[in-house]
Amino acid sequence: MKTIFSGIQPSGTITLGNYIGALKQFIELQNEYNCYFCIVDQHAITVPQDRLELRKNIRSLAALYIAVGIDPEKATLFVQSEVPAHAQAGWMMQCVSYIGELERMTQFKDKSEGKDAVSAGLLTYPPLMAADILLYSTDLVPVGEDQKQHLELTRDLAERFNKKYNDIFTIPEVRIPKVGARIMSLQEPTKKMSKSDPNTKSFISILDEPKVIEKKIKSAVTDSDGIVKYDKELKPGVSNLLTIYSIFTGKKISDIEAMYEGKGYGDFKGDLAHIVVNALKPIQDKYHELMSSEELDIILDNGADKANKAAQKMIKKMENAMGLGRKRR
Ligand code: TYM
Repeated sequence: MKTIFSGIQPSGTITLGNYIGALKQFIELQNEYNCYFCIVDQHAITVPQDRLELRKNIRSLAALYIAVGIDPEKATLFVQSEVPAHAQAGWMMQCVSYIGELERMTQFKDKSEGKDAVSAGLLTYPPLMAADILLYSTDLVPVGEDQKQHLELTRDLAERFNKKYNDIFTIPEVRIPKVGARIMSLQEPTKKMSKSDPNTKSFISILDEPKVIEKKIKSAVTDSDGIVKYDKELKPGVSNLLTIYSIFTGKKISDIEAMYEGKGYGDFKGDLAHIVVNALKPIQDKYHELMSSEELDIILDNGADKANKAAQKMIKKMENAMGLGRKRR
């Protein structure tokens, strides 16, 4: 069976973008692959976090993974910092990375732009991400489009390591969804929907109340021609809403366009709000149930045990390849 690894940062709200770009793919893939799904808390601390908030977000993300349909009997669900191999392998991968290539990462450029004090962790984030993936001999990494560059670097680093030391890493492939690889901001539809956007009207959280979802969709930026038509360049706002509509209903975009021919954005947005609210309702119910049970801790303890066992094997191979320690382990 082939292996999948993917991770999500527990840094606040989980958005419709995370759901469509990542979580939805995970659910579809868990039956056919040996899956590791990680709550990457060590990645989250590359920017300042409140400790109590972070702890809360870790639990909350674990509950969301399960609430959307990840089956912990099938997939290994765990918290990154509870598997020390990630930090160990992250260091080794930093030592095969070049500063220049890390400085060229768009995520680093975006997150460090205009800031006086940028943590070194923000720069060395991609080698840690490579470590996450390579530790499990991952074949496939399902992510949204914004992670493509990090995946390319992961492949480069794995190849470099294999060539320089020993051929121990599987070179992973990226898996980006055909529709919904980049869900856009509801307020600035040429920018990606992001949980760190200070304008909360720009994103929908999976946990938003129905009324809030309705309000956000109704105030989504569109254009003035009033035609429900997909055109990414000329009508980015409407195109984004059409994408979301199509994903949640399984309908083709051309069929949705036909349904709203001659109707304005009001009807279209009203229906979309209804569709999103109804799709998220069962997820939200399950989430609240899980947050008040002890099940979550048992699942994460088991997940960390399984991940630790698998990752330790690769750590030994990496240390032997690099000559770390006194003897072969
Ligand atoms: P993060 O936490 O920013 O996002 C989690 C996942 O959601 C996807 N995503 C989107 N997809 C479509 N449209 C959007 N607007 C949107 N916003 C986010 C992301 O592409 C991602 O798949 N570096 C990663 C976390 C990570 C990781 C890993 C991922 C750490 N180690 C190893 C895969 C494998 C990140 O910051 O994702």
